[in-house]
Amino acid sequence: MQDYNEFLEETLIPEKILQERIAELGKEISKDYNGKNIHLICILRGGVLFLADLMRQLTVPHTIDFMAISSYGLGARKTTGKVRITLDLKEDIHERDVLLVEDIVDSGYTIASVLELLTTRHPKSLRVCTLLDKVERREIEVPIHYRGFKIPDKFVFGYGLDIDEYYRNLPFIGAIKPELYNPED
Ligand code: IMP
Ligand code: MG
Repeated sequence: MQDYNEFLEETLIPEKILQERIAELGKEISKDYNGKNIHLICILRGGVLFLADLMRQLTVPHTIDFMAISSYGLGARKTTGKVRITLDLKEDIHERDVLLVEDIVDSGYTIASVLELLTTRHPKSLRVCTLLDKVERREIEVPIHYRGFKIPDKFVFGYGLDIDEYYRNLPFIGAIKPELYNPED
């Protein structure tokens, strides 16, 4: 496997900044959900590192569950707006305070479809927490209640996000060299 430095154009968000912001988010969420139990839903696989760090910053009781989806689009960032569940939640979310934990919102289609789907299961509340937001690329409006960082329109990797399934372990968010990134892949 190639060294990640071969792909790295620049470090967009260093580890320390990332962790400080996650601590802030944890505080904010804990304050907003004071007296409640949060049911955190993580969309696999990109959101796992964020979930693990975020939940350690929460001071309110919470449970976790996972779901995986695949978009009907082509490649990493081509989405058609429709998603298919490849792994469904273990638990019922009826009457629960659900917080979706996502790595990144790009066009918005993924979150929009997941929200539409989860709404049909009648949670008590349903909110979205995303670490990264590529605001400029939004094609469909989605409610984002908690956001770590707005980022420019660049393909990013590290901290859960992959390049062909690798480098998810990196503790920072890096931008890939544009010449090495082919969105049609
Ligand atoms: P959306 O449906 O266009 O909002 O796309 C969201 C999904 O696309 C994310 O959950 C990621 O899996 C993927 N994605 C979008 N941008 C990036 C990126 O820069 N790096 C890695 N994955 C990305
Ligand atoms: Mg993802």
